[in-house]
Amino acid sequence: MPAIPSSFDLLAHNAAAWDRQARADGPWSQAVDSAVIAAARQGRWHVRLTPGPLPAHWLGDVTGMRILCLAAAGGQQAPVLAAAGADVTVLDLSAEQLAKDALVAARDGLALTLEQGDMRDLSRFADQSFDLVFHPIANQYVPAVEPVWDECYRVLRHGGALLSSFFNPAVFITDRDPAYAGQGLMRPRYQVPYSDLTDLDEAAVAAKQAQGQPMLFGHSLASQIGGQIAAGFVLAGFVEEMQTPARFEIEKFMPSFIATRSLKL
Ligand SMILES: C[S@@+](CC[C@H](N)C(=O)[O-])C[C@H]1O[C@@H](n2cnc3c(N)ncnc32)[C@H](O)[C@@H]1O
Repeated sequence: MPAIPSSFDLLAHNAAAWDRQARADGPWSQAVDSAVIAAARQGRWHVRLTPGPLPAHWLGDVTGMRILCLAAAGGQQAPVLAAAGADVTVLDLSAEQLAKDALVAARDGLALTLEQGDMRDLSRFADQSFDLVFHPIANQYVPAVEPVWDECYRVLRHGGALLSSFFNPAVFITDRDPAYAGQGLMRPRYQVPYSDLTDLDEAAVAAKQAQGQPMLFGHSLASQIGGQIAAGFVLAGFVEEMQTPARFEIEKFMPSFIATRSLKL
């Protein structure tokens, strides 16, 4: 029997977990400083989907571009794109993550539209209301990614692009008992698609809840890449990247990050 009851409120749990990470100034919640914004205003800027730089041709001049930063709050990327001249909207589940963007916008005089919500439901946005969706590593927090791709396709104009990143599902299959990693071993334990809600035992769920960690999902490549294609996108760019330093044994042997550039023709 799954350790989590069907009545579990995933969105409330993950929102609270991300609010906590934001208050603790975690790595995805450290707002950029005014020098970064000043440089972006002068044309010196970068944003990231993976730890390495974005391929240069994936995002050219963003002046006047209507960009949706999807599940990308934290005061890190959206304010930079706004300072570079884009018309930026951020949609994120966590009020505290959005507060980081609000802080940078107020401090440095940037116009940012901030929306609190779930990445699977973009119904507040009209069809074709964006030129670009920028969606860095976040779809591991929802149990299904197909609705995200469908919604991204709908809100993009024809000729628009979706830049997204996500985990290779292989990172989800191994037993996380540190005793294995301590011996340089990997024990396959979980199947893909992986779900914290159904695959973890009671002790692991209790530990996650006690530590206030968000619940995670490991999606198949059929959902990640096939799902984008099924939504109507044409794949135009693909990047794989190693996590360094590796957090799990498997990351010593294969890239865990995938980034894609997809077009709505
Ligand atoms: C790794 S962080 C990405 C933001 C990071 N500052 C960046 O620029 O890459 C993941 C983000 O996903 C958000 N998130 C988690 N579940 C979500 C959901 N269901 N809908 C929208 N955002 C969500 C979190 O609040 C968090 O801000």
